[in-house]
Amino acid sequence: SQLKMFVDELPDMPKILGFDVVNGVPVSKSLQIGMFSKKWKFHRDLPPTRVFAYGTSNNTATVPGPTIEALYGVDTYVTWRNYLPSKHILPWDPTIPTAIPATKKGVPTVVHLHGGIDEPQSDGNANSWFTRGFRERGPTWTQKKYHYYNIQQPGNMWYHDHAMGLTRVNLLVGLIGAYIIRHPDIESPLGLPHGKEFDRPLVVFDRSFRTDGSIYMNRTGNNPSIHPQWQPEYFGDAIIVNGKAWPRLTVRRRKYRFRIINASNARFFEFFFTNGLRFIHVGSDSSYNKRPVMIKKILLAPSEIVDVIVDFSESKSDSAILANGAAYPYPSGDPVNKFNGNVMKFIIKRQREVDTSRVPKRLIKYPSPDLSNAAATRYIAMYEYTSPTDEPTHLFLNGKPYEAPATETPKEGTSEIWNVINLTADNHPLHIHLGLFVVLEQRKLVDVEKFKECMLKINNAVKCQISKYARGNITAVPAHEQGWKNVFKMTPGYVTKILVRFAYIHSNASYPFDASAEPGYVYHCHVSILFRFSI
Ligand code: C2O
Repeated sequence: SQLKMFVDELPDMPKILGFDVVNGVPVSKSLQIGMFSKKWKFHRDLPPTRVFAYGTSNNTATVPGPTIEALYGVDTYVTWRNYLPSKHILPWDPTIPTAIPATKKGVPTVVHLHGGIDEPQSDGNANSWFTRGFRERGPTWTQKKYHYYNIQQPGNMWYHDHAMGLTRVNLLVGLIGAYIIRHPDIESPLGLPHGKEFDRPLVVFDRSFRTDGSIYMNRTGNNPSIHPQWQPEYFGDAIIVNGKAWPRLTVRRRKYRFRIINASNARFFEFFFTNGLRFIHVGSDSSYNKRPVMIKKILLAPSEIVDVIVDFSESKSDSAILANGAAYPYPSGDPVNKFNGNVMKFIIKRQREVDTSRVPKRLIKYPSPDLSNAAATRYIAMYEYTSPTDEPTHLFLNGKPYEAPATETPKEGTSEIWNVINLTADNHPLHIHLGLFVVLEQRKLVDVEKFKECMLKINNAVKCQISKYARGNITAVPAHEQGWKNVFKMTPGYVTKILVRFAYIHSNASYPFDASAEPGYVYHCHVSILFRFSI
């Protein structure tokens, strides 16, 4: 049977402030946020689903978790507490590098604030996991209480589980939430729509369910004789927004701000409105654009965020469906169907409103990338590797698995040029912890097969004469994606050139912590395997 669309109201997740106010002055705050096993209703007609949810108590825990709102310059501390049972809801595969407690009991978890610029000990390293009550801890675990400095640019982030080998299943069962840094001195003068009603995070992901309500994931891996359960990518047919399948929201005829997070494992979204309404793009993952950009479609990879204004007063109809047009896997997979091609419905009130919010011509200007100052140029090749025993393919970066020693060692305060060479057939969203980057260009490779052959043999882009192969057409970076980002789509068959900055983008201030400390940081594709660097 199939679920009826647009019958549940879009929920707002509970809000938790990451600061206190004492005598009118904001001061830092210590939060306790737990991970709980509970049942969650994803749809009116679907029985409740067993999930793992973040919250301040089992009763108040939600999927996605509460939205944490931090204030620029005010520290937020969070003790993330694991109250999960001894067994996982979904099957996980012990044959891939995975956090496995010695007692074989408990669900390893660790939280990463995606987009946060924080000390390595609070970054949620995949091996810093812990089980219920911190009973067992991973090899790089150091502390219970995480410190978030909130001194980067204001913008949108999200927190999610990051445990070795379990990240995918931990996110699939619900360990996801939004995190916003606000900087009122800078943001209020912009005049964008604000307040609970007009400024909303939309956390979007795909899931499939059995008729009993449980989350469906194929239990058999792509190559079960070697990895019983491992499948590199998950796709579900129901599209969930803020914890409800295909919800609806009644809106007024005025401007709204939506901070849209793609929290899917592998699904790209190409969002558009069925009635032609446009998006005014004002920011992306963790930073604002210099100027707003009007667009009809938004392509959002897993873990990317867009911050958009939608002006419903421009609507010619009384309803609009937010739809999805992205093939899965992107870009060469199946086309969307009548289920995953729909996201949510907006019902637009007839009556016109006085709307005092506005979208200014200029938003926030950060320093432009300075190529002449780049301290290093690196080549990072992504390719899938199939072993002689025909194991499932693994995504490697520069031919190395995650367990290999840290590869890049950038210096704090410097910028580097990274040329990311995608030799796979799929688009991979590359995410770099700690650093923010600007995408400079995407250039098509000629004769990919020949270049790949060389790379598989000697794994050295310079020796394989990358300059000879990187001379195809250049795809211009769309205007709305020219700002500072922490994740970007690496087009298959292209070299994507980025300038990464290992410093705050709004100032030259150095990090208030030791960025070279263990366990270091990672950069990785947000669909699969992790990679590591230290600074
Ligand atoms: Cu969103 Cu290393 O993760």
